[in-house]
Amino acid sequence: MVKRNTCVFISGKGSNLRNLIKKSREYVFPIKISLVVSNKANAKGIIYAKRNSIPIVIINSKNRYFEKKIFYNLKRYNIKLICLAGYMKIISKKFIQDFKKPILNIHPSLLPKYKGLNTFSKVLKYKEKKTGCTVHHVNEKLDSGKIIIKKTFFISKSDELENLQTKTQIMEHKAFPEAIVKLYRYV
Ligand code: GAR
Repeated sequence: MVKRNTCVFISGKGSNLRNLIKKSREYVFPIKISLVVSNKANAKGIIYAKRNSIPIVIINSKNRYFEKKIFYNLKRYNIKLICLAGYMKIISKKFIQDFKKPILNIHPSLLPKYKGLNTFSKVLKYKEKKTGCTVHHVNEKLDSGKIIIKKTFFISKSDELENLQTKTQIMEHKAFPEAIVKLYRYV
């Protein structure tokens, strides 16, 4: 099985990173996590890279050479795919154009609904009957690239912010691996 070198970008907890590392150990899963990038030195998810001896680049987005440094490492590790897994920084147009290979993002709503931040409070405010998550290609517009997969669940009357988030993450841990398999299915 050809396993494409993949870089996962994180900013926080890293449950999607953890899940992708686990999936990537399966023989038939088409990627290998070769690099992790975090724009936060205190991102909890860094622990999963450390535990699995995956190289990590931690770089503050205020650094003048922020994207240049990331780019240098993507080349160094021959990265063929980027997965944004809770990466809370917008990637520049130049970066997307220069990378030229797929960049996927996971978003905690049924896009095109509720792009950007605070998705769960918006879902509750607008009394949605269902919600879920979306994996999509990243393009120059926020949360707007071509959709690869969506996973949906029905909201119950007792659902509040916290358990909506928990239910969504359960969906995310299925959706991201499935989207990656789909991406490489016919390649
Ligand atoms: C995920 O729910 C992901 O959809 C969301 O951040 C969370 C990260 O969780 N991403 C965004 O909101 C991006 N706009 P994790 O750190 O446990 O993987």
